[in-house]
Amino acid sequence: MERTIILWGTGERARQFLERGYFKACRIYGFVDTYSKNESFLGYRVYAPEDLKEILKEADALVIANQYFGEILEACIEMGLEWEKIVLTDHVREPICYKRFLKLAEFSQELFLSLQDRVMRLVKVNESDQKDADRLIGNDAYGAPVYMEDYFRFRTFEFAAREIKKQRTEGAIAELGVFRGTFSSLMNATFPDKKLYLFDTFEGFGQEEAEQEIRMGRCSENFVSAHKATSVARMLSNLPHPENCVVCKGFFPETVTQEASQEKYAFVSLDVDFEESTYQGLKFFYPRLSEGGMLFLHDYNTFYLDGVKLAVDRFEKESGVTLKKTPLADRAGTLVILK
Ligand SMILES: C[S@@+](CC[C@H](N)C(=O)[O-])C[C@H]1O[C@@H](n2cnc3c(N)ncnc32)[C@H](O)[C@@H]1O
Repeated sequence: MERTIILWGTGERARQFLERGYFKACRIYGFVDTYSKNESFLGYRVYAPEDLKEILKEADALVIANQYFGEILEACIEMGLEWEKIVLTDHVREPICYKRFLKLAEFSQELFLSLQDRVMRLVKVNESDQKDADRLIGNDAYGAPVYMEDYFRFRTFEFAAREIKKQRTEGAIAELGVFRGTFSSLMNATFPDKKLYLFDTFEGFGQEEAEQEIRMGRCSENFVSAHKATSVARMLSNLPHPENCVVCKGFFPETVTQEASQEKYAFVSLDVDFEESTYQGLKFFYPRLSEGGMLFLHDYNTFYLDGVKLAVDRFEKESGVTLKKTPLADRAGTLVILK
């Protein structure tokens, strides 16, 4: 379906977006600018901000193509514009702005990818991490490169694994929510002698659960469809020791085998993004974690995927267990649960 957009900005940035064909899949309604005296820009009409309330009714999004996005957002709020339609082309750390940035993927995949790559590389956390920061370890669901620069996540995993080995914590390791195996490949490389259970549909999220999460505004349709692009063969080709892996393909917890349910686990990565699946993962794995074992729950403190935190609350309430939680300040707000 062709989407109609309005761009705020008639400067160099807006010009480049159009000339590079970033919005070629969209219909351009026109431009908006505060100071522009031009009546047209690149052949499109330029409107004044006061017109926006009216013209935005006929468009799917207002894309802010201007470096003063903070002030523009404030102006949009003052004008009472439809907040859901505002899309940013700058990455900013504030939760609300980050959500707007993610929304860009629905309107321009090319622009989103190029900006995301740049943005990710700008977020350098620690100078001593510089060397690893440039190490490419995989691609995310949108095809954007994943660098080792998510310092806290990867370093914490490295140190956690060291403790687990030192204490000889018993058990297998597992990941629920494997996708293409980016994190599983690190787990497999770090624990070459442990059996690694890999739970995923390898075809994307469960349809019913995904529809519900979209309805609740916790993720976009794009996010869901991007996660369909994987397969068992593709994932296994990323693992250094595939011979130690047990692939449990299908919708969890239906895929739990007797073997998996009789195991103890020394380390578990739980990364299924949605509420019900996260809850099912906690319910299955937590009782099977060894003393001293750890579970990394991805996306606990993120700006979206709100179901993850709700699943933890529900698990604690229903099981009567108070989890020992250490939240990480990594990119996706991982929660480390120690038993
Ligand atoms: C964000 S991705 C995982 C990313 C992965 N940990 C990595 O390192 O790249 C989430 C994955 O969870 C899977 N998933 C979500 N709910 C599931 C369920 N109930 N059963 C099986 N797989 C599920 C999806 O298919 C998707 O591949």
